[in-house]
Amino acid sequence: RLSPPDRAKLMSAYHAMQFVEDEMRLGLGTGSTAAWLVKLLGAEKHVFGLEIQCVATSTQTQELAERVGLRMISLDQAGWLDLVIDGTDEFDPLLSLIKGGGGALLQEKIVATASDRMVVIADPSKEVDRLGAFPLPVEIVRFGSEVTKGLIEDKLAGFDVATRRTHWREKAGKRLITDEGHYILDLNLGEIRDVDTIASGLLEIPGVVETGLFLDIADTVVMGVASGEARLIF
Ligand code: A5P
Repeated sequence: RLSPPDRAKLMSAYHAMQFVEDEMRLGLGTGSTAAWLVKLLGAEKHVFGLEIQCVATSTQTQELAERVGLRMISLDQAGWLDLVIDGTDEFDPLLSLIKGGGGALLQEKIVATASDRMVVIADPSKEVDRLGAFPLPVEIVRFGSEVTKGLIEDKLAGFDVATRRTHWREKAGKRLITDEGHYILDLNLGEIRDVDTIASGLLEIPGVVETGLFLDIADTVVMGVASGEARLIF
């Protein structure tokens, strides 16, 4: 039996299926909500013969999608996507997002940017008035990573945020290495008052590859609730 939060995630994915059409080239997000979507797509393919070609945003999603029998291609094979459906860690009223809690922010942003439409699947815990309670992930090149961290901390001093703590993302006691071979530095900012300045300011530092701020990318949020319904937010 699913817990209410898990049921809300499943419902978000379930209601997002209305945006999937036969023969689409579809981007698949990463995380526990996106995993529900992948399983539902697999069931739809086997039961109703849905024909889609999919691009995964992480090895984790790639493996699950292959297991459920989806037809997987690379982003370069697809060239362009009709739709990407992905989870999020936070979204605000403008549909700005913080993503990267699952460590796949770089591929997620590349895929979302190469897609006609981005539908975000989110349970109610992800809705915020202002982004920042969830630590902002920043993907960083390994070469000179401590120097890059220092430059980020210097920049943070000039940003309008509530707190300025940073920590390296770890897995099993070691620094996490992303699918693309980078580190992730998580920034505890508490509340971000100017997302544009932070997004562009961080990207000025050469060792920064990408940030988890997705601005002007998401088109729709499908917010499922445990009782079974969903709210569409545009
Ligand atoms: C993955 O890198 C993230 O961007 C995910 O979209 C995010 O962590 C959402 O995960 P859940 O669906 O597990 O909450």
